[in-house]
Amino acid sequence: MRTLTAIVIASLLALAVLAIAQPTVPSLPFHDSLRGTAPLDEEPKAPLIAPTENKDVIRGLNYAQQPPTIPHKIDNYQLDKNANRCLGCHARSRAEESGAVPVAVSHYMDREGGVSGHLSPRRYFCTQCHVPQADTKPLVGNTFVAVEDVRQQPDKTKKR
Ligand code: HEC
Ligand code: HEC
Repeated sequence: MRTLTAIVIASLLALAVLAIAQPTVPSLPFHDSLRGTAPLDEEPKAPLIAPTENKDVIRGLNYAQQPPTIPHKIDNYQLDKNANRCLGCHARSRAEESGAVPVAVSHYMDREGGVSGHLSPRRYFCTQCHVPQADTKPLVGNTFVAVEDVRQQPDKTKKR
């Protein structure tokens, strides 16, 4: 009987210690990159939509094989199964007349690398990969470095 009491007391003590050691609740006010400091049970006022950059200046690429971002507005350009407004200017046959950069040859390749005379269906929905940009503050920090820049940093761990 005495051992049983001892066990009960010991487990109660252990539980008490566990309760004290609970992880602390994150300190208020709550902050989120999209919601700001609005509590979860409140609907914050939506921020204004940033205007699309429309400077017609081709931007540099951050890494090889990056789909270039769109340097012009695309508002109201129809892009669905019936029509592709982008190709009206960017198709290789239209580029001379429109002055747009013709779509890359990769857009005429099937997944085996064979080039055909028409745009590959997997490249039809342009905005799946290409996006216009807005001049806004990034939502979250970013320390991305292109592989070329990483390679050029001297390796301090190596003995010369
Ligand atoms: C009225 C003609 C026209 C239409 C329609 C058009 N573009 Fe363009 N696009 C251009 C021109 C001209 C440029 C060259 C830069 C400039 O003048 O804006 C360009 C540049 C681009 C570039 C940059 C290419 C590079 O090498 O960096 C991309 C990507 C692009 N457009 C994608 C699109 C997509 C996607 C659509 C459809 C949603 C579209 N464009 C619709 C004319 C057009
Ligand atoms: C699956 C992703 C994807 C889709 C869909 C896609 N592209 Fe691209 N696009 C790329 C990538 C990646 C590049 C850069 C590498 C390359 O040349 O293939 C590129 C390059 C381009 C370029 C620059 C060509 C150059 O020579 O600099 C233009 C213009 C372009 N795309 C327009 C379009 C248009 C218009 C459409 C829709 C008809 C489209 N793309 C659909 C991924 C895509």
